[in-house]
Amino acid sequence: MNVILETRNVGKSYGSFRALDNVSIKLHEGERLAIVGPNGAGKTTLVNLLTGLLTPTEGEVFFKSDNIRGADPVDLAERGLARAFQLVHIFPKLTVAETIAAAVITRQKKRWNFFSGFLNSEETQMRVREVAGIFGLSNRLESPSQLLSQGEKKLLDVASAFALVPQVILLDEPTSGISTADKHRTMKTLIAAGEKAGVKAMILVEHDMDLVATYSDRIVALAEGRVLADLPPKEFFADPKVVETVVGKLRTE
Ligand SMILES: Nc1ncnc2c1ncn2[C@@H]1O[C@H](COP(=O)(O)OP(=O)(O)O)[C@@H](O)[C@H]1O
Ligand SMILES: [Mg+2]
Repeated sequence: MNVILETRNVGKSYGSFRALDNVSIKLHEGERLAIVGPNGAGKTTLVNLLTGLLTPTEGEVFFKSDNIRGADPVDLAERGLARAFQLVHIFPKLTVAETIAAAVITRQKKRWNFFSGFLNSEETQMRVREVAGIFGLSNRLESPSQLLSQGEKKLLDVASAFALVPQVILLDEPTSGISTADKHRTMKTLIAAGEKAGVKAMILVEHDMDLVATYSDRIVALAEGRVLADLPPKEFFADPKVVETVVGKLRTE
């Protein structure tokens, strides 16, 4: 299996605090990789390093065969590595259609810049409707995003990332704040959307072990900034020590 995204001995310090230490992980084509670990384990830091929001203190990050250490998120999104940005929180007054359009336009900016009138073109609008349809947001296009339910906000967030036509997508806790009943539905929608959009691999940071067990092919557990385990779900859940470190600490959060 081809490796599509990889960290090699990555470390990240915030001042004297060591958030990640010597982390080497590989994401293969066709894989859904879950990143789990107690609060403060370094999961978000790792996602930020992988998507260019942070530069590692040590080590390298590779996307396909390119060393992407220091590349910025917009550049990476154009190359096919996208994450969900919380546009809903940043621009709560934009409608669903406008939020998705913002992502579509980011992706196409090189072409669109020549003809600013194209920003609201039929082509953009078609893509907005297509993406909204995949995420079940078709009847919400004109709603300001702040009026959506929590589940719909999460889907809109992810829809914006998908609008970038990514090969690899990274989602940091896509189901946080969603009721348990809706989590599976949201996750199924995300995965179906990924398949429809031709996404080659996905990284999900997820707290809910039931979702991790159901939807991931491999699990990387972080604890105190280090890789504690890197296993298929069956082996992961068969290792009581690993599960206790991850789940035990989660319970006492
Ligand atoms: N910008 C920052 N400055 C200082 N410390 C940070 C910063 N961001 C995160 N940290 C610390 O790094 C550790 C890992 O954080 P984070 O990656 O957000 O963990 P997780 O997503 O697993 O909960 C935590 O102890 C957090 O307090
Ligand atoms: Mg986090």
